[in-house]
Amino acid sequence: MSRKINVAIDGYSSTGKSSLARKLASQLGYVFIDTGAMYRSVTLYFLQNGVDYDNVERVKASLQNIEISFEWNEEEQVSNTVLNGKNVDSLIRSAAVSGEVSEVSAIPEVREFLVRQQQEIAMGRGIVMDGRDIGTVVLPDAELKLFMTTDFDTRVERRFQELSIKGIEMSREEVAKNIEHRDYIDTHRAASPLYRADDAILIDNTKLTEEDQLRLTLNLARRTIEKFNENTPQE
Ligand code: DC
Repeated sequence: MSRKINVAIDGYSSTGKSSLARKLASQLGYVFIDTGAMYRSVTLYFLQNGVDYDNVERVKASLQNIEISFEWNEEEQVSNTVLNGKNVDSLIRSAAVSGEVSEVSAIPEVREFLVRQQQEIAMGRGIVMDGRDIGTVVLPDAELKLFMTTDFDTRVERRFQELSIKGIEMSREEVAKNIEHRDYIDTHRAASPLYRADDAILIDNTKLTEEDQLRLTLNLARRTIEKFNENTPQE
């Protein structure tokens, strides 16, 4: 039987990481882990419980009460994010959470708490994980690392269309400012800032369709799995 690898996907927001990661995992028969959803779940908990982020002791105590898991939803054929027993998939995408998540994800205690869980999840391999620090901090030994980029105007346009479909009114200028702000925080925070790991393969998807991206990354994954199995025979 073929041994499984781990795939780490990092990149800026609105570059299509999660949707590619989800499809890649499904094609490989692997488990997809959206680490952004985990940071969003902690943010939701903090908002719901009035946790003051500047109070480190309060943050640490609150983290003890947080349990995040992913459950396969057979009916919708998607994986749901579950926070303390409740499906929070829509709540974690709300404007309130989106507005605060960058700040929460910059708190070192929050990162330590989630990184530990992400590493435990990936121990058995067969995981496609997407985020900002997967190839650099969470899974530095992942057999395949991808770093996604898209040119700025294309990201703005894609995000603008996404929001319009959801009925959220925002001008292109506002969307651009929001993306710029998120990029700044993602790349400048002291704890695990976003950067490309030396051994990550750069995928610029500006001119690629979703099908192109899947075909390309699936080929890379299959080649990596083959090499991994040649080099590390079964015990
Ligand atoms: O990918 P996303 O937009 O759902 O991520 C939400 C936020 O979480 C975003 O501000 C970046 C942060 N994040 C992070 O700091 N580290 C990760 N591994 C994943 C997300």
